[in-house]
Amino acid sequence: MKKIVKMWTLASVMAASMGAAFATDKLGYLVKQPEEPWFQTEWAFADKAGKDLGFEVQKIAVPDGEKTLNAIDTLAANGAKGFVICTPDPKLGPAIMAKAKALGLKVVAVDDQFVNAKGQPMTEVPLVMMAATKIGERQGHELWKEMTKRGWKPAETGVLAITANELDTARRRTDGSMSALKAAGFPAKQIYTTPTKSNDIPGALDAANSMLVQHPEVKNWLVIGMNDNTVLGGIRATEGQGFKAENVIGIGINGVDAVNELSKSKATGFYGSLLPSPDVHGYKSIQMLHEWVAKGKEPQKFTEVTDAVLITRDNFKVELKKKGL
Ligand code: GLA
Repeated sequence: MKKIVKMWTLASVMAASMGAAFATDKLGYLVKQPEEPWFQTEWAFADKAGKDLGFEVQKIAVPDGEKTLNAIDTLAANGAKGFVICTPDPKLGPAIMAKAKALGLKVVAVDDQFVNAKGQPMTEVPLVMMAATKIGERQGHELWKEMTKRGWKPAETGVLAITANELDTARRRTDGSMSALKAAGFPAKQIYTTPTKSNDIPGALDAANSMLVQHPEVKNWLVIGMNDNTVLGGIRATEGQGFKAENVIGIGINGVDAVNELSKSKATGFYGSLLPSPDVHGYKSIQMLHEWVAKGKEPQKFTEVTDAVLITRDNFKVELKKKGL
């Protein structure tokens, strides 16, 4: 990280000494979890937008509040005019906006919406996000479809729903998924929710383990979660407790984070993933910011990115390629 910051500083000095004729806009792209291919894809497409439209993207990992506020200072010191951010914590919204305002930086939020001190969404900050409820409903629908195809009896099946309700987009996805299953006819009393402490595989694995041990009567499991890593944690827990792949169906969300799993030589309980458009999130959010900074065109407050395709072991290579991923 330090090295990258140094490189930027050097680049800014060089740009300054080359004179204003070479000056291009600098824009930041800050993400909470750079280890997720989802965010790496956003970064790659933000870079593409920068190349296409003529601006420089400064990419910074912001896993916590302190790093986020420091990153905003770094950006301002480097002469950036604004940034796109997926915040590590929605509650940082007011602090991020106060700092950005003080330093004269424009802000576009991506993926995760800021909330104010009262816990309400900060709708005044332009936001690019996926259609959370809709993609969740699709997850539930596809799980029901696959369970029916396997001929599972609802009476012998349980839903393991790993939740992260403090994050609005996560809550809407898992709620949507559970509603779709209930609407299809899955018994509500066999849907078991368990909150994860962290949005990664180890957190989800712990959450899932503690729930699985409480239901030794369940023969088959459907696994629900807000993204691929959450569902993967659930799948690892079922494996740890002796369930075979044919008795487990998990469908993730993000797609790009499921490539390793779907590439495994033997099928696991992770059946597939809903692939939305991290490419569009990355490109569009920074394009909107650039138009705001360069042309004074204020972005619309809410941009919802819809449509997702179900990728499985059978089609993931083709589907990813279609999107240039
Ligand atoms: C959240 C999740 C990510 C990804 C994005 C998509 O930020 O943590 O894994 O699903 O939403 O908008």
